[in-house]
Amino acid sequence: MIAGAPMSERPIRIAVAGLGYWGPNLARNFDAIPGCELAWCCDVSAPARERVGARFPAARLAEDLDQVLADETLDAVAVATPVPTHAELAVRVLEAGKHCFVEKPLAQSVADAEVAVAAAAASGRSLMVGHVLEYHPGVQQLKELAGSGELGEQIYYIYGNRLNLGKLRADENALWSLGAHDVSVVLYLAEEEPWEVLARGESYVRGGVEDVVFCFLRFPSGLSAHLHLSWLDPHKERRFTVVGSRRMATFDDMALEGKLTVYDKGFDEDARTYGEYITRSGSIFCPQIPSVEPLRLECEHFIDCIRLGLRPRSDGASGVRVVRVLEELQRSLEASAREAGVRRGSMREAGVRGA
Ligand SMILES: NC(=O)c1ccc[n+]([C@@H]2O[C@H](COP(=O)([O-])OP(=O)(O)OC[C@H]3O[C@@H](n4cnc5c(N)ncnc54)[C@H](O)[C@@H]3O)[C@@H](O)[C@H]2O)c1
Repeated sequence: MIAGAPMSERPIRIAVAGLGYWGPNLARNFDAIPGCELAWCCDVSAPARERVGARFPAARLAEDLDQVLADETLDAVAVATPVPTHAELAVRVLEAGKHCFVEKPLAQSVADAEVAVAAAAASGRSLMVGHVLEYHPGVQQLKELAGSGELGEQIYYIYGNRLNLGKLRADENALWSLGAHDVSVVLYLAEEEPWEVLARGESYVRGGVEDVVFCFLRFPSGLSAHLHLSWLDPHKERRFTVVGSRRMATFDDMALEGKLTVYDKGFDEDARTYGEYITRSGSIFCPQIPSVEPLRLECEHFIDCIRLGLRPRSDGASGVRVVRVLEELQRSLEASAREAGVRRGSMREAGVRGA
């Protein structure tokens, strides 16, 4: 902290650690926020530092996070390094007395995520997880619609499709890389945690790294959710569908217009007969969604939380909830892969072709 200058009057000084694919997007946004100063860009890779340093000449460059953390006037660090490093780096940032933004998911295990949350509590600094979709105006309106009863008294089910011929990763599978977004949105909409989770998936390109994963979650309220996650798909889809007892809605992040659509569709009891239903296929409307970059809103929220001493919406505790669901889904995925291996083995022994 700068001695003598009240937090509200001076810029919040932030560093971005990890300047690969995603980190420069964080740097661009923090650099553009009034009252925020991008003070440091840090990466262990020299080419990454050179590439990103040229875009942000006012920021200092560092190879080692310790050099950044030694800056007493620095308020916060945004961590955009590979997932296996998240928890350890977050703890170092928090223990150095800086506020910490960590890209999703918070950690690779609940145990590691909880260590980061404990470090935030001990230091009294903010810990925020980059669950960017929770800041999307379309997702927020979808949540308001669901919460207002507009879709009916009960939300029956939600399904998410996150498909693309996308970035093929070696250090995390499609569940952790893509599913962190969808799990965070489902938990954000549901406001409860699932009591049952199931996942099935296959590794086609790289052994042991699932390219396609299907998940099924059941919640205490009766809500269920399904996720289809794949970076091996001809379609680029980023869509949620919410089916309520009265209406249905979709949030389609790939749509240029009409990202959010509400369908007055469902089944009504036929008053003329007993136990019969008639299909209601009424009007369809698309509420206006402000065209703002969700990442910008997310970064602004982090800066506001630091300045005003607020708890981030996607705080450490919500990050732990997402990791808990991902961990349980991963267990289910591994159990089903083991079972499939045993069954294939017996089929091979029995001479089944292709097994
Ligand atoms: N919110 C989103 O939509 C979104 C999208 C993509 C990635 N991400 C997240 O961003 C993070 C990074 O993903 P990426 O695709 O940019 O990965 P990447 O591999 O392209 O980049 C990671 C960078 O971190 C650097 N690095 C590794 N260890 C470091 C350390 N100890 N200190 C400093 N730098 C270090 C690497 O050299 C590399 O340049 C991941 O957590 C990922 O989940 C979020």
